[in-house]
Amino acid sequence: MCHSVLARLPKALTLFSTLLSPVIASSSGELWPLQTYKSSPIKTPHMNVTKMGQTEPGLLFFTPQDILRNIGQPAIYSDDGQLVWQGQSGNQSALQPQMLNGEPVIAYWEGYSGEGFGFGHISILNSSYDEIHRVTLDCKSQNFVTVFDPMEFESCIDIHESQLTNNGTILVTAVNVTQADLSSVGGPKDGWIQDGLIYEIDLVTNEILFRWSAHEHIDQVPLSDVRAPLEAPESGQNKTSPYGYPHLNAIYKYGDDYLLSSRYMCSVFFLSSNGSVIWHLHGRTGGDFNLGLGTSFCYQHDVRFISQTTERVTLSMHNNDNTEFTGHTSLTTGIVLELELQGSKQVTLKSRMWDADEPVYAESQGSYQSLGNGHVLQDHGATPKIEEFDENGRIVMRARFGYDNTMQTYRVYRYPWTGTPSTKPDVAACVQSGSGKAAVYVSWNGATDLESWKVYSGGDLIQTALRNGFETTIMVDDLSAGEEITVEAAGGVGDGTRSDSVMISQSC
Ligand SMILES: *[C@@H]1O[C@H](CO)[C@@H](O)[C@H](O)[C@H]1NC(C)=O
Ligand SMILES: *[C@@H]1O[C@H](CO)[C@@H](O)[C@H](O)[C@H]1NC(C)=O
Ligand SMILES: *[C@@H]1O[C@H](CO)[C@@H](O)[C@H](O)[C@H]1NC(C)=O
Ligand SMILES: *[C@@H]1O[C@H](CO)[C@@H](O)[C@H](O)[C@H]1NC(C)=O
Ligand SMILES: *[C@@H]1O[C@H](CO)[C@@H](O)[C@H](O)[C@H]1NC(C)=O
Ligand SMILES: *[C@@H]1O[C@H](CO)[C@@H](O)[C@H](O)[C@H]1NC(C)=O
Ligand SMILES: *[C@@H]1O[C@H](CO)[C@@H](O)[C@H](O)[C@H]1NC(C)=O
Repeated sequence: MCHSVLARLPKALTLFSTLLSPVIASSSGELWPLQTYKSSPIKTPHMNVTKMGQTEPGLLFFTPQDILRNIGQPAIYSDDGQLVWQGQSGNQSALQPQMLNGEPVIAYWEGYSGEGFGFGHISILNSSYDEIHRVTLDCKSQNFVTVFDPMEFESCIDIHESQLTNNGTILVTAVNVTQADLSSVGGPKDGWIQDGLIYEIDLVTNEILFRWSAHEHIDQVPLSDVRAPLEAPESGQNKTSPYGYPHLNAIYKYGDDYLLSSRYMCSVFFLSSNGSVIWHLHGRTGGDFNLGLGTSFCYQHDVRFISQTTERVTLSMHNNDNTEFTGHTSLTTGIVLELELQGSKQVTLKSRMWDADEPVYAESQGSYQSLGNGHVLQDHGATPKIEEFDENGRIVMRARFGYDNTMQTYRVYRYPWTGTPSTKPDVAACVQSGSGKAAVYVSWNGATDLESWKVYSGGDLIQTALRNGFETTIMVDDLSAGEEITVEAAGGVGDGTRSDSVMISQSC
């Protein structure tokens, strides 16, 4: 797989490790441009797309969070940089389009976040963008203790995961402040940690089917493997400054077992359903394995199996290799590793993806998605950039939606999607002074496959126009201010859906 990429690896890595990060920054706090519309109050980051080849089908699902303006929404964009859908504003994360009972759904975390984790619930929307499940984890009955005490939260699901199983359950992470002996790493004996937990929860009843705590397995998930420094703000000295052990950020279930990623331990764990660690891959020391050439990783995200047998597994990840407490000098790449589970315990690099023209040094977050035809989609979290690579590791798309460290998304996934909004199309219309024409602006938040718009006045069809992006502008003759129009969707699942009647105004 991707031998051409592998072949030029050592040389390229030497080259990039000597370069400084070409941060695409806003000079003097300049704000990234937003796209606005006449027919809708929606504002969304402008998306700058460059395509160098054919991309896989599907739309782009993510949660742009504008740090300077302090706003964010779940969103879907198309490959031409056009918004397709924007959801409610709030703090969102871990958005994943997935299948549930044979139907495509969107799952995402929403709640209160800060200091790298959060407390909230998971919303699951159907293809009409209606919430069909709200998954919660009761803070009180689980005796959660948070760094934000005495603030209270109803649900204590963390920001990092929203993975559905094929059994009507969901996998999520949680963070609990608890006491731990930190003397083995030079901290206090009566120290404090941010214990990392995973839960499997029934979607319908919110019943907890599986709970696992890293701290309760500290003999197999040792403190000494953590790479985060034991200093403020995570000194472990007191309850408000708990040590960042182990910072979990991805879970997946294979059969009865759980694959787990720990960012601060630079580790991947495979857990049995009885909670014991079956194997441990450490990105710097190897853990139970022997790291081969180019297989080192750290501060990684979105670890998944590509294939699994009893002899070996192949896994992919977004290897940040940087954090807020390291420099920004290690190249961030997507990597695929093969692990021999028996005998040699060798780890082999199968492929590595990065954008050589615009390399990224991502401080936090990110995702790696294997698409069809050997393609790979990557997002770089704190660096708001999406890339797609083809089966030869060649970049075929690059998309930017913000300046570094001022806009972010935890993950981005490409997914096929047909949206059938339960709302009506939105319309604004006004007279264009001097032209003798009226401008009709129409959009339908979340509608994916409509083809054209029909404009009606007094019951008569007066104009048809092809849909053009999120909002289509239609110029219409012989209409004056005060007249009423309606607009109807044509083609696709929403065929025949009409807007409310709107009056043409003097100006837009
Ligand atoms: C988008 O890309 C074009 C072409 O590369 C560039 O000129 C423009 O400045 C970019 N826009 C933003 C907002 O970065
Ligand atoms: C989002 O989280 C921030 C803290 O990171 C908080 O100040 C803000 O109120 C939250 N917003 C919502 C809508 O919960
Ligand atoms: C989505 O859920 C809503 C509320 O339950 C329902 O009315 C709607 O028909 C559903 N849409 C689809 C496409 O299943
Ligand atoms: C599916 O869930 C049910 C209960 O919710 C459980 O009894 C069963 O073991 C689960 N199956 C798998 C494969 O996890
Ligand atoms: C969180 O830690 C406290 C002790 O600080 C403990 O009593 C409680 O059971 C823990 N909760 C969870 C969910 O592990
Ligand atoms: C907790 O420890 C941090 C640094 O380790 C310190 O800045 C802070 O003041 C301490 N808080 C309390 C309540 O003692
Ligand atoms: C947990 O399960 C594994 C097999 O998945 C087994 O090897 C181990 O002995 C079990 N541990 C306990 C404590 O039951």
